[in-house]
Amino acid sequence: MTDGLKIGLAGVGTVGSGLLRLLKARKDTLTARAGRPIEIVAVSAQNRLKNRDADISGLRFVPDPVALAKDPDIDVFVELIGGERGVAKQAVEAALSSGKHVVTANKALLAHHGPSLAALAEKNGVALNFEAAVAGGIPVVKVIRESLQGNDISRVYGILNGTCNYILTLMEQEGRSFADVLKEAQAQGYAEADPTFDIGGFDTAHKLALLTSLAFGTRASFESVYVEGIETITPADIEAAGDLGYRIKLLGVALRTESGIEQRVHPTMVPKDTAIAEVDGVQNCVAIDGDFVGDVMLIGPGAGGGPTASAVTSDLIDIARGLILPPFGTKAKNLKPYKKAQMRAHEGGYYIRLSVYDRTGAFAAIAGRMAEQRISIESIVQRRPRAELPGFKRRHEGTPAAVVMITHQTTEAAIRKALAGIERDGNVDAKPQMIRIEKL
Ligand code: HSE
Repeated sequence: MTDGLKIGLAGVGTVGSGLLRLLKARKDTLTARAGRPIEIVAVSAQNRLKNRDADISGLRFVPDPVALAKDPDIDVFVELIGGERGVAKQAVEAALSSGKHVVTANKALLAHHGPSLAALAEKNGVALNFEAAVAGGIPVVKVIRESLQGNDISRVYGILNGTCNYILTLMEQEGRSFADVLKEAQAQGYAEADPTFDIGGFDTAHKLALLTSLAFGTRASFESVYVEGIETITPADIEAAGDLGYRIKLLGVALRTESGIEQRVHPTMVPKDTAIAEVDGVQNCVAIDGDFVGDVMLIGPGAGGGPTASAVTSDLIDIARGLILPPFGTKAKNLKPYKKAQMRAHEGGYYIRLSVYDRTGAFAAIAGRMAEQRISIESIVQRRPRAELPGFKRRHEGTPAAVVMITHQTTEAAIRKALAGIERDGNVDAKPQMIRIEKL
């Protein structure tokens, strides 16, 4: 029997505990599949004695993760600490510099420092694997890095955050407000106590930056991602979207255009009869449009101890088998600079909801602002005022009514100018709502 692959595990939370359980439960099968045993020989955690789903009492404990990363008795450093800087970054750099392979679930670290860490891994001839960093249990990193290498990819997009998808699903199914459902998601442990990263779209943006690098062979550029979260979505939007044949999902989209690559995260209208519209609750989904393969879609669990441990294990098996690939599919020095497409050049259809004073000429003024920008309207509906909907206060000029429009293809620049004009004209009593429609 060849020597075992010796692992130092830093971070024993939900995912770390899942990994300990998986490696124990599948010990013999994994040895057979990898050709050698895979064993955790030392761990590092903030609290050694914390109650957890896995027993670490028999393992060597190293309080300092950076010391564990350099430990002469380990071959692989598994980083499940999280965070773009601080100890996670120091430990990963220490491990790579000491010639240890690294497996990590840390999307923030890689979205910010991916190219330099990949270069460090390649310089030291070691792996930097991160299947668990994007969409949890969905094996999308390997699919793009290995299985789809024969393709030119034109777009990669998906539902990359389970918390947001859970909130939007419940808002639709139960007609409840964003704040109400968020509270429940926090109580159930889906959303963090500080949910800003999830609901603000930043977690999705980290994952998207990694998918963009893998799909287009460019240096990861998190700073260039256009980000909008789901905080402004109301039950009125979800109901109107449903009436028009759409669902609202938080999508991350990376798209090759003539002027560069668009990277955007925002609430998006998707037609109800598409597969992505059916992805409900905490599930994730990633779609890849390739030229030879066509459109590929992967759906599955995007978080949680079991699915994420499954992804970490696949990375460990690759290392045990001796499969060491450039982290982003292309050697770090050959990754192209990321060329950003300007968001104002984005083209697509738009959903607009306005809260319009019910008075003569209001509609004509709105239509005029749209026409000025050469925006063609596909459909327009004035919905009866409903006192119970937020933002529908009685005013001396009459009760505002919700006007919902769907536009034909136009540009982001045009729609923003039109909406600014509509706000200036004073016929609306709240900031217009605008949701992009994705062509699927
Ligand atoms: N918080 C993420 C989600 C999982 O809700 O999908 C980890 O990235």
